[in-house]
Amino acid sequence: MARLAYGGDYNPEQWPEEVWQEDVRLMREAGVTMVSVGIFAWSKLEPEPGRYDFGWLDRLLDLLHEHGIRADLGTPTVVPPAWFYAAHPEALPVSREGVRYGFGSRGAICHSSAAYRAAAARITERLAERYGRHPALALWHVHNEYGVPVGACYCEASAEEFRHWLRARHGSLDALNAAWGTAFWGQTYGDWAHVDAPRLTPSVANPAQQLDYARFTDETVRGNFTAERDILHRLSPGVPVTTNFMTALSQCDSMDYWAWGREVDLVTNDHYLITDGRRTHVNLAMAADLTRSVAGGAPWLLLEHSTSGVNWQRRNPAKAPGQMARNSLAHVARGSEGALFFQWRQSRYGAEKFHSAMLPHAGTDSRVWREVVGLGADIAALAEVAGTRTVGDAAVLWDWQSWWAQKLEWRPSQDHDARERADSWYEALFDRHLTVDFARPEADLSAYPLVVVPALYLTTEAAGRNLRAYVEGGGTLLVSYFSGVVDEHDTVHPGPVPGALRDVLGLTVEEFAPLLDGERVRLDGPEAPALTGDLWTEVVVPRGAEPVWTYADGPAAGRPAVTRHALGTGTAWYVSTRLGPAELGAVLAAAAQDTGLPDRAELPHDVEVVRRAGEQGAYLFVINHSGAEAKVPLDVPGTELLTGERVIGRLSVPPGAVRVLREES
Ligand code: GAL
Ligand code: ZN
Repeated sequence: MARLAYGGDYNPEQWPEEVWQEDVRLMREAGVTMVSVGIFAWSKLEPEPGRYDFGWLDRLLDLLHEHGIRADLGTPTVVPPAWFYAAHPEALPVSREGVRYGFGSRGAICHSSAAYRAAAARITERLAERYGRHPALALWHVHNEYGVPVGACYCEASAEEFRHWLRARHGSLDALNAAWGTAFWGQTYGDWAHVDAPRLTPSVANPAQQLDYARFTDETVRGNFTAERDILHRLSPGVPVTTNFMTALSQCDSMDYWAWGREVDLVTNDHYLITDGRRTHVNLAMAADLTRSVAGGAPWLLLEHSTSGVNWQRRNPAKAPGQMARNSLAHVARGSEGALFFQWRQSRYGAEKFHSAMLPHAGTDSRVWREVVGLGADIAALAEVAGTRTVGDAAVLWDWQSWWAQKLEWRPSQDHDARERADSWYEALFDRHLTVDFARPEADLSAYPLVVVPALYLTTEAAGRNLRAYVEGGGTLLVSYFSGVVDEHDTVHPGPVPGALRDVLGLTVEEFAPLLDGERVRLDGPEAPALTGDLWTEVVVPRGAEPVWTYADGPAAGRPAVTRHALGTGTAWYVSTRLGPAELGAVLAAAAQDTGLPDRAELPHDVEVVRRAGEQGAYLFVINHSGAEAKVPLDVPGTELLTGERVIGRLSVPPGAVRVLREES
């Protein structure tokens, strides 16, 4: 891509063809370069089994091409037509409670259904044969948001496939019995045929069985993606294939995106602001950083976000003036090669008619439209940024499988939430103006001065060795409680907790001591004020580590709360209670003294400062989320791409504005 992409989902099948002319005219006015089409169009493309109607899509792609707009062409396999389900009701997924879902929405798919797989392959082949070399085609968009709204299916076909998957994974029933710890509660299996999906059970279902089912589901769904991808590669060579992820932890929890990132030609993501009380621009930055990390640091593309409100939360605030551009350009700062929306023209009917769009019901005489046109111009002005990579300062370890394991029932505290810990640590790093790369626990971490580990409950032995080598080699590691506890089968590592991280942290945990609702503990440390923790404490026994903060009260009073362990040429820190983002900042500041991290204390609060760099140069993105003018000191002079001004010494960014400086080398 020689420029940044701009556009959105385009659903012309909802409109008479006369409207298409106005669409392309307005698309050009807004600077649209790419639209996603055909995602939900199976029933229009194949109105009866084997009878195809491609005429409208021929005309549409030609029209787009005439107007210089490229197509991200969907395979419509997220919604098979009603006739398909009439013939194959077994392709509708079954919930854990044993209830079969119905038709009339979207994404009602049993991913183990042979009939679904065959039908998806057929429509994908037809599309690839017909459009695989169309000049408008830029990208293939397989399916839509695999993993939501239904992840796992509990039908008999899925259970049968699970048994095959288990044989391949465990080899023998003895190995399965050992891995699942079936000696507990008398669950030992003597015949493969008796092994089942973890259906609704009277009490807690076997945790290792549940964890394997989550893995099986993820792999099965991914297998259906790669089957379509391979067809497209064969029939449409040279055209990249993607499927839109939802990396935000609030939006999809069932897909292991580390594995997915390796299977797509271009990582693409959908992101929506969630009004859950947290700062939305921080959540956005986190999702963008996670997406870039899933892409291995390479450029990726924001395929969907919203111009204003969504319509699927309890209350759906409209975006404030300027917020849309800040959101879009924050994704670009963190590696996106453009910004696309759901959707181009706001629907008049259906489930999402109150979801905002680029062209709203209000028409072109509206704030949203004027901002859409303005953003199109900004995106065009940033063309030269394309292909550069965002520069990360520190790594945060994230592992979807460990998250799945932590969601299982019957833990020391059911209120412990791995996602909340990741969010809070991320926020603390964001507020120190550090750009975060996420990394797998087994990844090479040696490039990072600081690695943060929020709640890595499931830690493999290999990950434990990796983290130890990282610290011995001079790294600074910061580990949160409930990490290093179990192996990949949800079995506690032998010996005292945290088995996989005992050596590197230089401590053992004698007992978990979670707190009741409303209880708080005080931590005395190197400097006033004291910190306060809640939810979780532990009886920590130092075995090489030294206490830095100590519990002043609570069940572990007098014991270490935050520790530091010097090992090799590095240090490993441990935080055994739940601290909020501001207080994690105090721990980060203490640990930062052990690192070569940049100190950005002089930068104003709620102002994002992120760098993208490549062969063509380096670009400093400054996004001012605050209500005051921000003054950002510059290392080098440069030219600001959105205003064209040359800037020396300090860059002034008005409240709510974005600036992008091409730095002089
Ligand atoms: C996405 C989905 C779109 C649209 C959008 C807005 O998750 O891919 O089709 O539904 O959300 O709700
Ligand atoms: Zn099924």
